[in-house]
Amino acid sequence: MLKPLAALFFYARFFRAFSVLGFRARVPDPGQPRLDFRGQRWVVTGATGGIGRAIALGAARAGAAVVAIARDPSRLATLAAEPVASPGRVETLQVDLASIARVRAAAGAIVDGGRVDVVVANVGVMRHDYSRTAEGLETSLATNLVNHYALVESLRTAKAIDGRSLVISMSSGGMYGARLDLAALEAADAAGHDGFMAYAQHKRAQVELTRYWNGLGPAAPVAHVMHPGWVDTDGVRTALPGFRRALARYLRSADQGADTALWLAATRPPVAAEGGIWLDRQLDPEHAFGYTRGGASAAELVAWLERRVVGAIGRPMA
Ligand SMILES: NC(=O)c1ccc[n+]([C@@H]2O[C@H](COP(=O)([O-])OP(=O)(O)OC[C@H]3O[C@@H](n4cnc5c(N)ncnc54)[C@H](OP(=O)(O)O)[C@@H]3O)[C@@H](O)[C@H]2O)c1
Repeated sequence: MLKPLAALFFYARFFRAFSVLGFRARVPDPGQPRLDFRGQRWVVTGATGGIGRAIALGAARAGAAVVAIARDPSRLATLAAEPVASPGRVETLQVDLASIARVRAAAGAIVDGGRVDVVVANVGVMRHDYSRTAEGLETSLATNLVNHYALVESLRTAKAIDGRSLVISMSSGGMYGARLDLAALEAADAAGHDGFMAYAQHKRAQVELTRYWNGLGPAAPVAHVMHPGWVDTDGVRTALPGFRRALARYLRSADQGADTALWLAATRPPVAAEGGIWLDRQLDPEHAFGYTRGGASAAELVAWLERRVVGAIGRPMA
């Protein structure tokens, strides 16, 4: 009984801000500023569906050359066939973000293509089932967190992203319910796995990862973490069907969910000393409840990720 009640309280607390009502209130003129990404090279993960697709097409239509990452070749082909005026273009890369080896290989191909201006770490899955990848990681942990870390670190150490580049991590308001607990990032077995809580932990971890990248100094990319609001996508349809049914009238479109990412890339706001998470072009606090404070630090998280990478592929990231 406690869990449904807590969920109800959580959704009621954020209903106005995260629904389409919040978007309309905070972004009265989504058409402004006019986007111009000519001459830029972007990498977008999860680019064939939902929010990632809207970001990839939004960037390409504003002139960027976009490397679009996802798994399904037919959906990648459909994306590549979308009309995009030159100099914008979409180049597809079929990669399973659950595999460190594939992500490292993909990063190599991206590096060969030259510098990257913007990386959007967008893929995020909530998996209620429990499975492990061939490399031994719980699948949602690998997909949501380990491999976005692997992708960015591979590009960073190869100098394909630098101090002029931007990394945008797509977190979620779900992170407001989690105090970062390294032991809760990955359950040891199916009995200990709660897809909802694991997702919230991964999304909280993205906030700390952002802090880590921003602490690396001027040669490292600028990093921002954002929340898209509640968006009507395949991901929500699959992972949260009851939530989608209940809130159908109040969900955002994919373009509305993508708005803040495109705005961050267009306006390049400075990183705030106190951190924060972007929603609807505004920086919100990282915590909404006192109990989520005091979790693992960015340095502890990165040390943990490195240990998981070594455990999975037998060598460190760098
Ligand atoms: N929708 C919301 O209301 C909401 C709210 C808060 C936060 N978010 C966050 O926003 C992000 C995007 O969410 P969404 O709802 O747009 O997602 P979605 O509808 O589930 O889109 C999924 C995209 O990711 C790709 N993908 C999934 N697994 C992959 C993998 N292992 N490797 C490579 N690509 C993979 C899919 O293509 P393939 O299946 O072909 O690989 C597709 O392009 C996520 O991080 C999510 O946590 C969403």
